[in-house]
Amino acid sequence: MPRKKKMKILNAVSEVVPFMATGGMGQVAGALASSLAENDKSLDIRIVAPLYARFRSKYEPQMKFLGATEVTLAWRTLYCGVYELAQDGVTYYFIDNRRYFDREDAYGYVDDGERFAFFSKAVFAAIEITKFMPDVIHTHDWQTALVPIYLKTHFGGKYSGIRTVFTIHNMEYQGQMPPDIMHDVFDIAEKDVNIVWYDKCINLMKGAIVCADKVTTVSPSYADEIQISGGYGLEPIIRENAYKLSGIINGIDTKTYDPETDPLLGKNTYSAENLKGKKANKKKLQAFFKLPNAPQKMLICIVSRLVSHKGIDLITFLLDDLLKLDVQFLLLGTGEHSYELFFEDKAIHHPDKVAVSIAYNPDIAGMIYAGADVLLMPSRSEPCGLAQMIACRYGTIPIVRHTGGLGDTIHDCRLGDGNGFVFEDYNTRALMDTIFSALDLYTNHEEDWSNLVRKAMSLDFGWQKSARDYSNLYRELESK
Ligand code: GLC
Repeated sequence: MPRKKKMKILNAVSEVVPFMATGGMGQVAGALASSLAENDKSLDIRIVAPLYARFRSKYEPQMKFLGATEVTLAWRTLYCGVYELAQDGVTYYFIDNRRYFDREDAYGYVDDGERFAFFSKAVFAAIEITKFMPDVIHTHDWQTALVPIYLKTHFGGKYSGIRTVFTIHNMEYQGQMPPDIMHDVFDIAEKDVNIVWYDKCINLMKGAIVCADKVTTVSPSYADEIQISGGYGLEPIIRENAYKLSGIINGIDTKTYDPETDPLLGKNTYSAENLKGKKANKKKLQAFFKLPNAPQKMLICIVSRLVSHKGIDLITFLLDDLLKLDVQFLLLGTGEHSYELFFEDKAIHHPDKVAVSIAYNPDIAGMIYAGADVLLMPSRSEPCGLAQMIACRYGTIPIVRHTGGLGDTIHDCRLGDGNGFVFEDYNTRALMDTIFSALDLYTNHEEDWSNLVRKAMSLDFGWQKSARDYSNLYRELESK
């Protein structure tokens, strides 16, 4: 029997682990590709991403230069180099342009629109240089939203066989840009303006939703929510395109996040059967953050971007009340400056109860997941959320608000067979009541708490099922 031809998938993404990750999208892009490469041999999956200064020198010796070309963006002619790197069964292509990517951070510059317009055009240049002609290009969030758009507006003829998937990791960031850069930066001709025009400005996410063959988002509940009220203004567009929308829950990389083998834990690895190591990690964590060594005190933590939709405003309102309880509070994250100052100030005034690290640091995050008792995620909206799943894996019990992927992954133990605590209403009272419940179980029902920890640790948050859902989605496009 002739062997079936592999289906070629090119993931175009603005960040990917282990090279660059500022948040969940980079983790998801990397872990999904690795899982697909390992489990679905009928796919040839590759990734194209910008070559940022942050990892350039570290990986350059292992990279192979494949060639360079010129990319045009309106009146600009821009250098575009392409490098290749194979890692863990996945081939990565990196787009080189020092002017755009030799910067400390991935985002946050005035010319971000131009940088990612260049990158989106460069994806097509990379197809030429690598000779990897994909059946599907899978793009993520506004940074690569221009790929499905350009496929319609600029490259339709030559690449008309390519299908596109656009994944929404967060509706809040839509790539809204001022109209005056429509032609000059985005190179969108007058006849195509309607594609990206929305609510008096350019909206790249809207353009991608309209142009992509399939739109996905990162949990089934979020796929419902964004059609009704969680779409940050794009609800009508999502509803019109609901026929091609689906919600596929993210997984986590269960090999990396494994308390039995995680090198970060040193000799204090542990498992659901033997939780001794978890206690040792708590002690280490308290020492690291200079909190009193208090094995019996419930250690509540937050690992999050410090922005209001993550529920950080709720935390600021109730922290004083929380600190009246016999608990310790730990926070790791960066974000809005006013929040950073607020938490730093609390740490100064309550050094025996509060510790804060204003940073994005996966190693410290790992120590927290292993050593804490409770993780708070009271998000106002949460497309999927990864921290609650990582916390479960390390036996740290999540307290979450019932929204998006949080509701899909965490079930309230007060209602039966749960793996955490869940509250509905977005207010401090609902959150505080839930913290009281958790504290009561932790303090007065030690055995039940340990059972809950074991339950949370035993759940499967791996990628396998969701990777299969993505494979099936790609296959649907193949038959069209
Ligand atoms: C974004 C979302 C988060 C999701 C992640 C990965 O960061 O805010 O909920 O888990 O993307 O898809």
